Amino acid sequence: MSRVGIIGWPVSHSRSPLIHNHWLAAHNIKAHYERCPIDPVADFRAALQGMAADGFIGANVTIPHKENAFAAMDYVDGAAQKLGAVNTISFRDGALHGSNTDGAGFVAGLKAAHADKGAGGDDWTAHPALVLGAGGAARAIIVALHEAGVPQIRLVNRTKERADALQGLSSRVSVGAWAARAELAADCHLLVNTTSLGMQGAAALDMPLHHLPQAALVSDIVYTPLKTDLLLKAQAAGLATVDGLGMLLHQAALAFEIWFGVRPAVSDVLRHLLLDDLHAKSVEDD
Ligand code: ATR
Repeated sequence: MSRVGIIGWPVSHSRSPLIHNHWLAAHNIKAHYERCPIDPVADFRAALQGMAADGFIGANVTIPHKENAFAAMDYVDGAAQKLGAVNTISFRDGALHGSNTDGAGFVAGLKAAHADKGAGGDDWTAHPALVLGAGGAARAIIVALHEAGVPQIRLVNRTKERADALQGLSSRVSVGAWAARAELAADCHLLVNTTSLGMQGAAALDMPLHHLPQAALVSDIVYTPLKTDLLLKAQAAGLATVDGLGMLLHQAALAFEIWFGVRPAVSDVLRHLLLDDLHAKSVEDD
């Protein structure tokens, strides 16, 4: 039986085992997906080599190890190279191969939402987009929006210097002031929240939407709660929305394809399994 897993610290709350074990069963693949906590002070490359020796064929990587993973690889793909971060590792031919499926997963989530619900269409690729936040998720999303052809990527962050530091990711990034975010949304067909604002336990995101065109798609990478205030407000304004499970599920599907050569379906059954699990956990936390 092959092994795959999620590397992080901590990883006890990760939903990746639920997602990948669902797909492994659906495809009748004899492999098991596990949680793999690795202490940040560990020798990371040695830990990975130990996993390969123990029967792992691949792993996902989450906080705080995506940059450590990048540094430990023998080979990386284009997205990982651009981001300096790896979220998917393959142990092949005695070497460590790193990829980054976060940004492509985000875009695949938007495209799938369109296919399922007619949400906004792919029209957003031809117009400016507004990205809120400048952390690791914003980096991956900026690169993916560039690759999807978005002509202008407006970026705002509370700490402007962090946004300025991302300008090198794409010639199409223009950094604006956090205070100007409402006006900067004018003529954007995509708004993405990559900040932690709106997450359970965090402060609310104050993002006026009245400047957005009616054709705009509003997405949030936060998925606890699933319907953030931003998405509720967008829906009330008649705008199409994509919730944070889109990126979570589609980055996972792309990783699964790297390891097993087949792109698994992001089905409603799986979404509901995940929602039930998230709900059970939030009840437990109360
Ligand atoms: P990631 O998980 O994507 O790597 P992160 O580094 O944890 O993200 O960053 C979280 C994002 O939320 C940042 O853009 C952060 O803004 P700063 O760079 O100014 O810290 C943003 N954020 C968190 N709390 C915020 C708040 N109260 N107001 C505005 N932005 C906030």
